[in-house]
Amino acid sequence: MKLSGLLLLLLVSVFLRLGQAQVKSFLVDCGSNSSISVDGRNWTGDSVPADNFTLSSPGVLASTAAISGDQLYGNLYKTARIFNASSSYNFSLVSGTYCIRLHFYAFSFENFNVNESAFDVMANSLKLVSKFDVPGEIYWKNMRSNSTDTSLVKEYFLGISSNKLQIEFIPDSGSFAFVNAMEVIPVLHKLFTDSANKVGGLKSSLPLMDHGIETMYRLNVGGPKIKSIEDQSVWRRWESDERFMFSLNTANTISNTSTVTYASANDTSIAPLLVYETGRTMIDNDVLEKRFNMSWKFDVDPNFDYLVRLHFCEVIYDKPNMRIFRIYINNKTAAENYDVFVKAGGKNKAYHEDYVDAVSQQIDTLWLQLGPDSSTSASGTDALLNGLEIFKLSHNGNLAHAPGRIDTGRGGLPATKQKSKVLWAAIVAGVGSVIAIMILSAIFMCHCIRKKKTPPEEKSNPSGWLPPFLHGTMGSTSKAQALKSSPNSKGSMAANRMGRRFTIAEIRAATKNFDEALIIGSGGFGKVYKGELEEGNLVAVKRAHPQSEQGLKEFETEIEMLSKLRHRHLVSMIGYCDEQNEMILVYEYMANGTLRSHLFGSDLPPLTWKQRLDACIGAARGLHYLHTGAERGIIHRDVKTTNILLDENFVAKMADFGLSKDGPALDHTHVSTAVKGSFGYLDPEYFRRQQLTQKSDVYSFGVVLFEVVCARPVINPSLPRDQINLAEWAVHWQRQQSIETIIDPRLEGNYSPESLKKFGDIAEKCIADEGKNRPTMGEVLWHLEYVLQLHEAYMRSTDANSYSGSQMRFADMSLSLPGITEGEEEASLEAENIVENSVEPKADGC
Ligand SMILES: *[C@@H]1O[C@H](CO)[C@@H](O)[C@H](O)[C@H]1NC(C)=O
Ligand SMILES: *[C@@H]1O[C@H](CO)[C@@H](O)[C@H](O)[C@H]1NC(C)=O
Ligand SMILES: *[C@@H]1O[C@H](CO)[C@@H](O)[C@H](O)[C@H]1NC(C)=O
Ligand SMILES: *[C@@H]1O[C@H](CO)[C@@H](O)[C@H](O)[C@H]1NC(C)=O
Ligand SMILES: *[C@@H]1O[C@H](CO)[C@@H](O)[C@H](O)[C@H]1NC(C)=O
Ligand SMILES: *[C@@H]1O[C@H](CO)[C@@H](O)[C@H](O)[C@H]1NC(C)=O
Ligand SMILES: *[C@@H]1O[C@H](CO)[C@@H](O)[C@H](O)[C@H]1NC(C)=O
Ligand SMILES: *[C@@H]1O[C@H](CO)[C@@H](O)[C@H](O)[C@H]1NC(C)=O
Ligand SMILES: *[C@@H]1O[C@H](CO)[C@@H](O)[C@H](O)[C@H]1NC(C)=O
Ligand SMILES: *[C@@H]1O[C@H](CO)[C@@H](O)[C@H](O)[C@H]1NC(C)=O
Ligand SMILES: *[C@@H]1O[C@H](CO)[C@@H](O)[C@H](O)[C@H]1NC(C)=O
Repeated sequence: MKLSGLLLLLLVSVFLRLGQAQVKSFLVDCGSNSSISVDGRNWTGDSVPADNFTLSSPGVLASTAAISGDQLYGNLYKTARIFNASSSYNFSLVSGTYCIRLHFYAFSFENFNVNESAFDVMANSLKLVSKFDVPGEIYWKNMRSNSTDTSLVKEYFLGISSNKLQIEFIPDSGSFAFVNAMEVIPVLHKLFTDSANKVGGLKSSLPLMDHGIETMYRLNVGGPKIKSIEDQSVWRRWESDERFMFSLNTANTISNTSTVTYASANDTSIAPLLVYETGRTMIDNDVLEKRFNMSWKFDVDPNFDYLVRLHFCEVIYDKPNMRIFRIYINNKTAAENYDVFVKAGGKNKAYHEDYVDAVSQQIDTLWLQLGPDSSTSASGTDALLNGLEIFKLSHNGNLAHAPGRIDTGRGGLPATKQKSKVLWAAIVAGVGSVIAIMILSAIFMCHCIRKKKTPPEEKSNPSGWLPPFLHGTMGSTSKAQALKSSPNSKGSMAANRMGRRFTIAEIRAATKNFDEALIIGSGGFGKVYKGELEEGNLVAVKRAHPQSEQGLKEFETEIEMLSKLRHRHLVSMIGYCDEQNEMILVYEYMANGTLRSHLFGSDLPPLTWKQRLDACIGAARGLHYLHTGAERGIIHRDVKTTNILLDENFVAKMADFGLSKDGPALDHTHVSTAVKGSFGYLDPEYFRRQQLTQKSDVYSFGVVLFEVVCARPVINPSLPRDQINLAEWAVHWQRQQSIETIIDPRLEGNYSPESLKKFGDIAEKCIADEGKNRPTMGEVLWHLEYVLQLHEAYMRSTDANSYSGSQMRFADMSLSLPGITEGEEEASLEAENIVENSVEPKADGC
């Protein structure tokens, strides 16, 4: 009796212990002999004897005093355990699903250089990582996400059917493995169902038990980061989604912090309510028609299936049919007619949807896009997303990406190769420094020789910044000389193209030490000052905010562009200054400022119709040259009235090439790029497809034409809804052939109605919805000149009190069409027909 009672007690205590183990997390501070409290939890040192887990071999304890960066987990990362032979942690636990996190912080210890570590990690029979290179992973992660993290956390979910978990670290031969901390947390609520919708197919089973998945991304869409301490179900961390959005311009953030609840009582661990309180919707309906996708782009490993979990919560509307959208994953439709309100069963209901899709070999990105659903007649087509998780599903017992994946990084290199790479790097560095010393001394000698001839202030640039076309060419003496040649010397090509190199003293003298009173413009890039050079020439001095990374890029682009281009209708660069880390460009001074300042918003006298046409023609010539003059053609990308400047004779020139891009190479029709540009001028097709062509400039130029004739801002939110966007408003009137209704009243009576009509036709053509229906800049130019002819003929005839009939005027005009060479004439005439045809009222408009 007594014995059986004891046995019973023993059994009970065993079960109790197992029960305890199940609800207990293992938080291990590797390489430490004490416990520590971090993020509100107690972490146990793995040197502290414990009966709940064992370590197969002691390895080497590593510790460091200093952790760089302000890290929540900093104290945890001060110690690590290093293994130079295969070793494992064995945990005894109760079967179930576990969340496993491995923390890595790359510090070097004694003769273990962390850059030489390379190892595999197995969890039971699942391979988590292979030939793992922690510093390389951190480096590439930071590169992709523009962050400066110094640590890395890998997160997995694993179904464990036995009562044992073995986490094994297997260093590559001749290398070593390390780990700073581990979490093994039981997942008490069901986080994953057994099946999920396969994109474009049927349900797909999710074999979680004895298989595993890895968390790739976890984002709080439209909201801030969520710390692990705020998501205590499994202590997840949520990042913000901004940097993964393809174009931020496509989305607004929304939030409503009141009373969100879970749609199902089973969902309380799926995500914290904080995630659902913020979200993104498509950009404001009032301004743009919603015909684009909100897109997110993620780097993933090829050849795996991914589980994409979308978190939704309708926090604004309290009835269905207000937001209906389509969900695309990897450009395939995952769902259509999606109405969050209906799916979740009401407002403020937290809901999620899972999709599985395969990413094939050769593909290393995953796209998520939410966009309009044209198949629906619902009142509101708009998309909504509140949170997003992407998980990689294991494949044949493997979650590690295969070596040789698409990656130019160090990641995935076998240790031996890495070592030889290090060796090679050392050799190259050694040889390189010898060469560099030789080159430097050559430059120095050359400098000394030239110094006698050049003025003393032209010293070499200590800041290290050089115009891009000089990068990597410092060794060439001719370039080095070019750098130092003064503007008057008949220097090399490079010197001529770059213009003069000013000293900061010269710039300060010219701008009265950057006198605020001389500021003639400012923008994201910096300020523009009016300056006067010693010789008496007026200049515009553009000074970038120091240390502006964005600035540096645009600065280099602009220099690069301007150095390639010389044209009467492009603002020309006189020189630059790069002393003392300055990024300064010196341009010819444009006495009459921006075209916009002469249209509205100032008390400058209004421009006449002829002056406006001349300005448009000048700008069109500049753009036409940009599109056709350079080898590949250049796309300006930011055509607007503030980037068209007027000189003292009102000759218009295009300015600001900071956003410019080389055009597509011959075998491509477009350049893929993140959407940049100015609101109101932005080509909707570019916006939708993120594909930049010269026709995007044509669109913006069309908006400029309407702005010139209507003299109002392209976006004016204070107007009634249908008038906010000038392009829409103007097209509305143009289609009725009555653009004169909305033109600048100050033009009244001083323009030829015929010319205005043609002008409206061209502008409308330019803003055609599809790029292929828009004219080229050359065609636009030709037509504008034609418009000017019409107008001048009209003015002559009214001046001369119509001594000759209108027939006569037109006969005159057609003989004196300006500057068309034979080749161009054909194309232009063709375009002329297009415009002519469109003048005829058509049933379907344009
Ligand atoms: C292991 O068990 C001991 C007592 O048996 C407990 O104090 C400790 O917190 C446990 N460690 C972990 C990581 O669960
Ligand atoms: C823990 O390790 C530190 C440094 O390695 C040592 O100074 C200390 O005595 C150790 N404490 C125990 C309880 O072993
Ligand atoms: C952590 O351990 C300390 C003492 O060892 C204890 O007072 C505290 O309550 C523990 N905290 C948690 C969150 O378990
Ligand atoms: C850990 O588990 C593995 C596999 O069951 C076993 O081979 C190994 O001996 C265990 N190590 C320790 C230290 O218990
Ligand atoms: C691993 O490191 C220990 C201590 O530094 C050393 O004694 C041992 O020989 C090493 N083993 C291997 C395989 O390099
Ligand atoms: C590891 O590599 C990084 C980048 O290549 C370098 O900055 C760092 O100094 C290296 N660390 C060691 C200990 O060599
Ligand atoms: C990178 O991050 C820094 C600081 O967070 C920011 O100033 C910079 O604009 C970012 N660069 C890019 C290209 O996003
Ligand atoms: C919650 O889970 C239980 C058990 O899996 C299931 O029977 C029930 O239908 C679920 N409830 C909802 C609302 O999904
Ligand atoms: C937020 O939700 C509450 C409760 O449904 C509602 O009264 C309020 O109007 C909402 N706020 C916004 C900005 O939609
Ligand atoms: C949205 O993205 C999908 C998939 O890439 C594409 O098929 C669709 O045309 C896009 N819709 C719009 C309006 O750009
Ligand atoms: C998916 O769409 C994006 C943007 O629309 C595009 O850049 C990408 O190449 C497309 N991917 C595939 C596989 O078609």
